[in-house]
Amino acid sequence: MIMPPTSIDRFGIEPPAEGRPAPARASGWSHWVPIRTLAERHRPLILDHLLKMDAEDRHLRFGVTTSDDQIRRYVASIDFEHDEVFGIFDRRLRLIAVAHLAYPPPRDPADKRPIVVEFGVTVLPEARGKGYGNRLFQHSILHARNRGVHALFIHALTENAAMLKIAAKAGATLEYDGPDAEAWLKLPSDTVRTHLDETLRSGAAELNYRAKVQAGRLRRVFSRWLG
Ligand SMILES: CC(C)(COP(=O)(O)OP(=O)(O)OC[C@H]1O[C@@H](n2cnc3c(N)ncnc32)[C@H](O)[C@@H]1OP(=O)(O)O)[C@@H](O)C(=O)NCCC(=O)NCCS
Repeated sequence: MIMPPTSIDRFGIEPPAEGRPAPARASGWSHWVPIRTLAERHRPLILDHLLKMDAEDRHLRFGVTTSDDQIRRYVASIDFEHDEVFGIFDRRLRLIAVAHLAYPPPRDPADKRPIVVEFGVTVLPEARGKGYGNRLFQHSILHARNRGVHALFIHALTENAAMLKIAAKAGATLEYDGPDAEAWLKLPSDTVRTHLDETLRSGAAELNYRAKVQAGRLRRVFSRWLG
């Protein structure tokens, strides 16, 4: 059974207390990593990315043994209009990390229940340990705040030290139930700064991507010249 924290609010989230990490905030610009918002046209790339995950990574990501067909169905079901999907590309334009923020179905504006979104992430094995998982989490927090989300939720396995560390560092409350763990992160409201941050980061990431595309073209031209 999940053991609830000693004092939880109506979101099931423990209030900040002394000694606990500060509530999540938009991270600064130091060590900036370009993160793009992915769209319908990226579906095949997302599928390729996920199919590269081995059985253990799929188990960590989805909580169950996941076949190629199940991954295909999952990717086909992503609703890019409603949810948000973020990606990190390396300089060769490979999609090395993907995060999916799954929003609840649209509601009546009069419905005042808290809005909770689920976060899921994968980083290619060779790109791990460089902070991309953490960056995607911070980026998702920023976007979720700007859309009036009250809390982020992550379902992870207890053995998933990296994911739980990312969540705990952001100030999430962790609840354990045997092999399963849940992380809940209550989000502060949006501010002018969080909206400005999102706009600047998205613009900079698009410029960075176009520069990589251009660099790739030049590389190909040069390699053709060189024979
Ligand atoms: C979980 C995952 C996304 C982490 O990505 P990542 O880019 O390697 O994570 P980061 O580099 O941002 O590391 C985050 C923290 O975890 C720590 N960490 C990384 N791998 C770890 C490991 N195997 N054991 C313990 N801690 C680990 C890092 O040191 C870092 O802590 P720090 O900030 O104090 O240095 C990646 O391992 C992954 O794709 N796993 C398979 C899918 C999955 O588990 N998804 C999460 C469930 S939704």
